[in-house]
Amino acid sequence: MHISVLKEEAIKNLNLKEDSVIIDATLGYGGHSSSILKRIKKGFLFAFDQDSEAINYSTNFLKKVGTNFTIIKSNFVNMEKEMKNRDINEVDGILFDLGVSSPQLDNDERGFSYHKDARLDMRMDKSNELDAYYVVNSYSENDLIRIFRDYGEDKYSKNIAKNIVKYRQNKNIETTLELVEIIKNSVPESVRRKKHPARQIFQAIRIEVNHELDVIEPALRSATNLIKIGGRIEVITFHSLEDRIVKKYFRNITKIDEKVKGLPNIPKEYLPNYKLITEKAIIPTKEEESLNPRSRSAKLRIIERIK
Ligand SMILES: C[S@@+](CC[C@H](N)C(=O)[O-])C[C@H]1O[C@@H](n2cnc3c(N)ncnc32)[C@H](O)[C@@H]1O
Repeated sequence: MHISVLKEEAIKNLNLKEDSVIIDATLGYGGHSSSILKRIKKGFLFAFDQDSEAINYSTNFLKKVGTNFTIIKSNFVNMEKEMKNRDINEVDGILFDLGVSSPQLDNDERGFSYHKDARLDMRMDKSNELDAYYVVNSYSENDLIRIFRDYGEDKYSKNIAKNIVKYRQNKNIETTLELVEIIKNSVPESVRRKKHPARQIFQAIRIEVNHELDVIEPALRSATNLIKIGGRIEVITFHSLEDRIVKKYFRNITKIDEKVKGLPNIPKEYLPNYKLITEKAIIPTKEEESLNPRSRSAKLRIIERIK
């Protein structure tokens, strides 16, 4: 099952009121959404996910809490359009809990896990065409190096890509464990002993397949357009590549104009529309980390619309 990360901190900081209208951009297994729904008895929740399995589970789960919600099967990058289609122009809070859920990782058939043998897939949205099989078997060596480097930050990107291309000359790479073997044989023994050598490469392929980094900034832009004055946008990230994008975007839109920065009283018209609530990201407590090791790399960043 999926254990929601930084749940208490995320819920508390949304400043929910009974009649709040909230978007959960990443419904998953409904942990955050159910906590939100419990607190907004006269409000409404819109929840997005691109994974039908997560949506099927969470629809039933949330019905036990309330009926004041709508689940939208769509990439959260379409948030603004989807909300406008429903005549919603502004909301009180938006939460993103990025990445994959534990059931996605643990389900043998999804092909996300480097521990379980499965057809190479890794699609969050199974109706998308691009899957891990295509990336691994059809991308050029240079493109493989690029994604392993940029999305996996893996030191052995070149060697791994070279060995994938060499292997492909005889037969296609069908399964996750077949790929793991190639990766293992491409890194030194000492590295293999320290950490799982496929971790970063699998992360890289997953990011490529789901365009995970490409959608963050446009989705944040939509969120800033939709958020009401006084409302908050929260983002939970799980690795530095995601976090860098969020941190940079939040810093930029909350930046005070250099011309007035030193003034004792900054005229309101010079203040940015958004305020950074988390100078430093909120991270899990030691207790949460030990209860849920997956939370270890999590970071929560928050902004508020002030005008
Ligand atoms: C970390 S899980 C969310 C867990 C959830 N907060 C909970 O408490 O159960 C992330 C979920 O977001 C979905 N997701 C990730 N990126 C998405 C995107 N760009 N558009 C829509 N859904 C996305 C995944 O399919 C997954 O179900």
